[in-house]
Amino acid sequence: MEKLRGFLLVSLLVVLGQVSCTHKSAELIPVYVNTNPTGGGNGNGGGTTNPNPCDPNIVYFTKDILPILNSNCAMSGCHDNITAKEGIVLNSYAGARAKVTPYSLNSSKIYKVMVTSNSKDIMPPAPNSKLSQTQLDLIAKWINQGAQNLTCNSGNCDTSNVTYSGVVSKTINTYCYGCHNGASAGGGINLSSHAGVASIAANGKLMGSIQGVAGYSAMPKGSKLDECQIKQIQIWVKAGALNN
Ligand code: HEC
Repeated sequence: MEKLRGFLLVSLLVVLGQVSCTHKSAELIPVYVNTNPTGGGNGNGGGTTNPNPCDPNIVYFTKDILPILNSNCAMSGCHDNITAKEGIVLNSYAGARAKVTPYSLNSSKIYKVMVTSNSKDIMPPAPNSKLSQTQLDLIAKWINQGAQNLTCNSGNCDTSNVTYSGVVSKTINTYCYGCHNGASAGGGINLSSHAGVASIAANGKLMGSIQGVAGYSAMPKGSKLDECQIKQIQIWVKAGALNN
């Protein structure tokens, strides 16, 4: 039960709109409900109450999973809605949900191909790199929490100590790396090192693309960073895009 601390276990099928029709009614379905009304100890400054704060123990599809899929699976030529290899489209909740079985890693196709040791079947295919263990763990946790489409409001934007290693590189790794690495460098841009990110910071393309400024291709392709992430990157760029 230790693991479930902070979660409220309820069995109301009605809450699970999207899975209820296929679910065996006798089974008890754990529903993860946010019981963290103050925002997980990050403080909730200004006296405003965040009605739907993010719970660090819960995996949220749009915030946590979609960026990984967009950047590593839904690129053009693969599982975007134009190419849709093998009929699989991974740039939306519905598309991803169709390829997973809630609470079962073994019957979840997209997870199985990401962890297989068979180099012919692995996704993303070579020369792309395997997803990181952190990303795989997050996808596994999402499936084990029922593969739901939960959303939350991250509330406060922490702009106090924006470093490359602590903040910027994490955002880039999640949202950009899959399309901008050594093996697959969209537009010839490789964002796998500080030098690569600093060079598009210096020529204005980083801010232009993430803010969707006219004349730049909007990035990340297929989704958008939230205001807080854009603000943090801007602070880092203005401070000289340091390798800190
Ligand atoms: C789904 C794949 C994909 C993702 C995710 C992605 N990019 Fe790109 N990016 C591309 C491709 C392909 C190009 C080259 C074609 C173009 O400009 O549209 C490109 C071009 C760019 C350019 C050049 C734009 C210009 O107008 O010259 C920049 C800068 C860039 N990406 C930054 C980023 C950043 C930063 C992220 C993450 C926040 C990101 N990209 C995420 C595929 C992607």
